[in-house]
Amino acid sequence: MPRSAGPEPGAHAYLDVVDISKAFRGTTVMSGMDFRVARGELVSLLGPSGCGKTTLLRIIAGLTSADAGDVVLDGRAITKVPAHKRNISVVFQSYALFPHLTVAENLAFGLRARGMAKAQTGPQVADALALVRMSDFAERPVAALSGGQQQRVAVARALIVDPVLLLLDEPFSALDRKLRETMQVELKSLLRDRGMTAVFVTHDQEEAMGVSDRIAVMNAGRIEQFATPSDLYARPASAFVMDFVGLSSRLSGKVKVSEAGALRIETPYGEVRAKGALAPGAKVVVGVRPELIRREAGENTVRVALADAMILGAKTHLYGASTGDDRLLCELPGIQSGLERGQQVTFGWSVDDTLVYEVER
Ligand SMILES: Nc1ncnc2c1ncn2[C@@H]1O[C@H](COP(=O)(O)OP(=O)(O)O)[C@@H](O)[C@H]1O
Ligand SMILES: [Mg+2]
Repeated sequence: MPRSAGPEPGAHAYLDVVDISKAFRGTTVMSGMDFRVARGELVSLLGPSGCGKTTLLRIIAGLTSADAGDVVLDGRAITKVPAHKRNISVVFQSYALFPHLTVAENLAFGLRARGMAKAQTGPQVADALALVRMSDFAERPVAALSGGQQQRVAVARALIVDPVLLLLDEPFSALDRKLRETMQVELKSLLRDRGMTAVFVTHDQEEAMGVSDRIAVMNAGRIEQFATPSDLYARPASAFVMDFVGLSSRLSGKVKVSEAGALRIETPYGEVRAKGALAPGAKVVVGVRPELIRREAGENTVRVALADAMILGAKTHLYGASTGDDRLLCELPGIQSGLERGQQVTFGWSVDDTLVYEVER
């Protein structure tokens, strides 16, 4: 029976990354990193370029050694096991295939490296090709394939050795948007059907939301939040996560009144109410997801000049005139016509939908 969702978060860890630290030439890129993945789970590492995603992935694979900490897989510490003995497969952005070999030869390579006789590789190669719908291309040289086809071969080559863990480092970022979406859907169902445990690195939040059971949002060598896509979106743990995952309005403000869990916040757009327990005088960032803002007065209401109305087809984005780094974004369904730049609009949203974060001092 196909599974519809991943294992429960917090289920017994299959991959357990414990207290990992890593510095390059004296510069710490990660310290005290903990990261746990359940068996059969598809987890993404999501974060901006340079935040340490590849470093963490390479440490798990054994391609980079950590300065401190442990990597435990299925209850066994593999920290000191060399990469080629971990039976972990890695798929990179650059397909890392042998261009002069055929598709079938590329797939057989991993099996032969594990000691299988050439004559015996046929059935497994055929199965792996069928898995990624590349059966018709077995005898093609890899160099004669498109980017999407090459990445399918790379995924097949990673899976053919029946790895205990699959790691993918921005595997689809060289592909165009439509193809990337197709590959995401295919990969997800392929891994689900096989019950494969996988860690997928991406800097593309939509990709992470689309493929993952859970997402670890990374920032400067730390995990800011590790949660399901819906929890990340609805309850971002920090302003960084709110900004990185999905769109939001963002208003800077200062707490004026704090009473029994209710805040009154002064912003450049007027007073905004939110739930929280911050001290008066605290500097904050207020956020609201765009589809939770309506074009009518609400518990929170602002009047603002319309800076732009972007008709995107299935939805329309209304941007309020911004002040500094602040922005107001309202998303309405369908095509909203008759809106003039510069006209005054009313935006309203509820107190419960108002996210508030203290600005780090
Ligand atoms: N081999 C290396 N030598 C020196 N610095 C490195 C090396 N690999 C990564 N770094 C640095 O470590 C940080 C994290 O890099 P990386 O893990 O590649 O980030 P990401 O994959 O999230 O873009 C960056 O500041 C990067 O410059
Ligand atoms: Mg990287």
